[in-house]
Amino acid sequence: MEIITTIEKVRNTINTWRKQGYSIGFVPTMGYLHDGHAALIDEARKNNDKVVVSIFVNPTQFGENEDLSSYPRDLNRDKTLCESHGVDLIFTPSPDEMYCNRKAFVNIIDLSDTLCGVRRPIHFKGVCTVVAKFFNIIQPNNAYFGEKDAQQLAIIRKMVFDLNFPVNIIGVPIVRESDGLAKSSRNTYLSSEERKAATILYKAIQEGKQAIKCGVSADTIINTMTNIVDTEPLAKIDYISVVDANTMQPVQEITSPVLVAMAVYIGSTRLIDNFSFDTK
Ligand code: PAJ
Repeated sequence: MEIITTIEKVRNTINTWRKQGYSIGFVPTMGYLHDGHAALIDEARKNNDKVVVSIFVNPTQFGENEDLSSYPRDLNRDKTLCESHGVDLIFTPSPDEMYCNRKAFVNIIDLSDTLCGVRRPIHFKGVCTVVAKFFNIIQPNNAYFGEKDAQQLAIIRKMVFDLNFPVNIIGVPIVRESDGLAKSSRNTYLSSEERKAATILYKAIQEGKQAIKCGVSADTIINTMTNIVDTEPLAKIDYISVVDANTMQPVQEITSPVLVAMAVYIGSTRLIDNFSFDTK
């Protein structure tokens, strides 16, 4: 497994692979890898000759008062996980290598303004910019994103469609802890008391899934899930919303595929979770 920090070197390596006719699967990450990331890598490993993982805590997707400086980092641990899952190349550039006073950004309007975009107004612009740069640097055939970040996945799909990136986007289901909490690098911020409280998100997801099957309105689903989260004193809801699965805009009645998404503070840690529902 190669570990490369410069754009020039990663391009050279990948060009050699392309000339040999290899297909390339790409998994973008911010590191501190866990089983959720591993599921993406495994999926990439199944369907591509070469697997590239980027590890880059992208400064442009963090707001001013967010956790950029405290975001967990452990490259040695990440290397071990990547190696054991058959990754061929880790690309881990410095912020200067990626940005150094650049002025170009990619912004997908409307889809970026709802759900997490309300509390994090510059977040998806930063995500799209860095992912677009990675796509241009690596030029993968296939790129893998988790359904855990369902809004991010929808926005990337829209970016790829609207800007004609020649890459297939593959969504991978949410990987959970045994008690249902969605795996996340940010779970390390939780105290042991908060970690127990965090299971309330999955309880709400399960109730929401039951409710939606009964053909109720979006408001009923939101109320059902809100009542559950409100039973946990350490939890504070940021949002619980039902949106159209493609446009990320709120819906009232569930007549086409939807995403039911939530963000909840457990203490000062903001956690997200979601499920999709198709009327068919
Ligand atoms: P990061 O949070 O490291 O996540 C990298 C990828 O792993 C994302 O596609 C995310 O959805 C997926 N992932 C995380 N936890 C998961 C889980 N429990 N189950 C399934 N997939 C999971 O998302 C980012 O980084 C960044 O925004 C990035 C796309 C790399 C751009 O900087």
